[in-house]
Amino acid sequence: MADTATPNVIRRADYAPPAFLIDTVALEFDLVPERTIVKNTMRVRRNPDASHATQLALMGEQLEFVSAEIDGKPFANVHAHEHGLLLDHVPDDFELTLTSVCNPAENTTLSGLYVSGGNFFTQCEAEGFRRITYFLDRPDVMATYTVTLRADKADYPVLLSNGNLLEEGDLPDGRHFARWEDPFRKPSYLFALVAGKLVAVEERVKSGSGKEKLLQVWVEPHDLDKTRHAMDSLINSIRWDEERFGLELDLDRFMIVAVSDFNMGAMENKGLNIFNTKYVLANPETATDTDFANIEAVVGHEYFHNWTGNRVTCRDWFQLSLKEGLTVFRDQEFSADMAGGATDEAARATKRIEDVRVLRQMQFAEDAGPMAHPVRPESYVEINNFYTMTVYEKGSEVVRMYQTLFGRDGFRKGMDLYFQRHDGQAVTCDDFRHALADANGRDLAQFERWYSQAGTPRVSVRTRYDAAQQRYSVTLSQGYGEAASAARETQKGPLLIPFAIGLIGREGADLPLQLDGEAQASDNTTRVLEFTQTEQTFTFVNVAQEPLPSLLRNFSAPVIVEYDYSADQLAFLLAHDNDPFNRWEAGQRLATRELLTLAARAATGVPLQLDDSVVAAFARVLTDETLSPAFRELALMLPSEAYLAEQMPESNPAAVHAARQFVRKRLANALKSDWLKVVEQHRTPGAYEATPEASGHRALKNLALSYLAELDDPAETVRLAAAQYDAANNMTDRAAALSALLSSAAANGGGADAQRALDDFYRRFEKEPLVIDKWFALQAVQRGSAQRPVIDVVRKLMAHPAFNLKNPNRARSLIFSFCAANPAQFHAEDGSGYAFWAEQVIALDAINPQVAARLARSLELWRRFTPTLRDGMRAALEKVAAQVKSRDVREIVEKALA
Ligand code: TRP
Ligand code: ZN
Repeated sequence: MADTATPNVIRRADYAPPAFLIDTVALEFDLVPERTIVKNTMRVRRNPDASHATQLALMGEQLEFVSAEIDGKPFANVHAHEHGLLLDHVPDDFELTLTSVCNPAENTTLSGLYVSGGNFFTQCEAEGFRRITYFLDRPDVMATYTVTLRADKADYPVLLSNGNLLEEGDLPDGRHFARWEDPFRKPSYLFALVAGKLVAVEERVKSGSGKEKLLQVWVEPHDLDKTRHAMDSLINSIRWDEERFGLELDLDRFMIVAVSDFNMGAMENKGLNIFNTKYVLANPETATDTDFANIEAVVGHEYFHNWTGNRVTCRDWFQLSLKEGLTVFRDQEFSADMAGGATDEAARATKRIEDVRVLRQMQFAEDAGPMAHPVRPESYVEINNFYTMTVYEKGSEVVRMYQTLFGRDGFRKGMDLYFQRHDGQAVTCDDFRHALADANGRDLAQFERWYSQAGTPRVSVRTRYDAAQQRYSVTLSQGYGEAASAARETQKGPLLIPFAIGLIGREGADLPLQLDGEAQASDNTTRVLEFTQTEQTFTFVNVAQEPLPSLLRNFSAPVIVEYDYSADQLAFLLAHDNDPFNRWEAGQRLATRELLTLAARAATGVPLQLDDSVVAAFARVLTDETLSPAFRELALMLPSEAYLAEQMPESNPAAVHAARQFVRKRLANALKSDWLKVVEQHRTPGAYEATPEASGHRALKNLALSYLAELDDPAETVRLAAAQYDAANNMTDRAAALSALLSSAAANGGGADAQRALDDFYRRFEKEPLVIDKWFALQAVQRGSAQRPVIDVVRKLMAHPAFNLKNPNRARSLIFSFCAANPAQFHAEDGSGYAFWAEQVIALDAINPQVAARLARSLELWRRFTPTLRDGMRAALEKVAAQVKSRDVREIVEKALA
């Protein structure tokens, strides 16, 4: 029988320093897939800053204990149990040698040491090191490591670990060894090893201080032709961190290794980053523009962790956002700088828009459900469940707010002080905030609430213009919506919200800004108001005409803004706002409002209609040649179905789908000639380039193609899409064409062209797993019809020989794409989607709990849905709750049902 006791809750308030410290670790591995022997020699001493303990308690999971020695002599006072090792009456300062055995071949969790494609890899964050050897596996225990790897030379010619290679050589019986040393103290979660048949591209670069660095990207031999972009991204990351933050690479050698079985995106192990192949491998034929951009971002992210995460690490896992929020902020700024430099605001805005879209769709939803938690959580059951949108994306917004408050230079001063104070330490989010505050001479006590308060704040805005006095007052009030019960429970008082605002005149230009009490207007027509009270009024003076407010420019805080714009005002902002982010935002507000009205009608069976003025507003964007293609693509993309459903009083995916499709069809038919012109004008002939300009052209053209797929008469679109499919010299265009063919087939029946393209795609890319992932995903997210519900396609694909539940990328490409990215089909009234979900969560739970828990989350908002769907979802959740074993999935489903 499954253990039904409530799993243990770990609380932030219970933090205590470790009773012992470990200063050095010498690891010896005899690598054999089914039976790897690990000998671990540690220098251990009592922690002078902790209370006395008679026992040394080490963590260990799935290990076979072999022996223990203290100072070279067998030690008998040792007890091995299911979760670790207890050593009684140990000395104050000693050498401890432990030997244990693990089984990488059978390790399907992809945590600890495992085998993938015949090679060995490790993943230790957050608590995987204890699956390799017994240890104080917590981030405030930092040690220097030397690692000796021994393995069969023919099967595992390459042996890698953190830091610098000390020596390598042959051993008897066809075996060989390599010895590595990492000169920097690190927590165990940053340990890594790799062994197997891999090859590397190499570059030698000079760092800022003139030292030569060896850079390597290690892959399987057949993937060497897909490493250029990752290497370029690494070189750009190194340069950027030097220029923007004065941070230099501290090792002589920096390695990236790609592995196809991986739970997340990538891992920042010291000097030996291990990546999901998805975030390394790219060439024009196999990877889309989005893939290229993601690779740049993730390579940057992991590289930037070397300082924000590795040199300064987290004291405990509640501080995860200390490294993740900060490093996401750094990778977002890196990508923005790569796209637009420091000054091209329009180009930077496209990156900002993409990031905010993710935040609002994913993080706001998380904050409105049972997994809502502050950026620095108060408790967890399984830490792997807290690598969340809140910790990463909202955490990044919190870091961004310091920069918005203090400017780039003030932020840099704070970062400098942070490293000056804490290099080599394991610290907390408070330490970071204090460094920012002290460097800028500010008290940031109130800002702490951003770390401890769950839920999405709402800022409602009232404005008043006094024509006689030429005064314009803006009253802001902050609070939490009805739904955010988690927020109300933890509410601690008002937040410090940097609220950027501009005032727009009748002609569309920004008006000068002068606050009451100021001697004159400032040069800047955007002002960051420091909004610190529950309700606060800011009065602008010498306002010659009634302005239109541009609120929360560049999304200066992760909040929801409520203001009663009329449709005409939104159309005006969409045409004129000087802040590119808010220009986009105006279009989204306009579209969201229309779509929600239509969804409400669709839910009750009322016929749908769309005002011509909305079509006209979108037509102006489409034909405005002064806007970049990348921006136009973003502005013309409607809010996603998931986001829209979330905004309804009761989520109704079918109604949202009907409304959104109605608008897409209407825009397609009404603007047909414009869409066709865009397809003609934004082709990118010649050799593929992954530049922002070229990908902007492709994005706009392919969006046009996707609208054209909605036309009542499909013939012309099918011809265009089929031609683009056949002629494509890059994956962006080929996948977009295939997707358009699938949409058109679903809308109009038939679909011989779509099937032909699907078959061709499979045959063409049979040997490219990442492309076959796309083949599965495209089919899982396709639109269905009554005659051909997508669940039937998905179930059939589950039996496809290329499907493999053990490979997370493949599982995600089919199962997650269907359950999380095809809401209209997943939430079928007959409950078929939920039954499928329950089966797959249960199946994955036995293989890989981390991945299973992610899938489990796709039902967490069940209470917000319409009654029939709610019942079906609850039944599925209860079924899963009754059967799953892992702590990971249990935490998710129990919180959902609570
Ligand atoms: N630290 C990694 C990152 O954000 C995240 C990560 C990679 C991870 N693999 C993991 C977290 C496995 C938990 C489990 O860059
Ligand atoms: Zn990270």
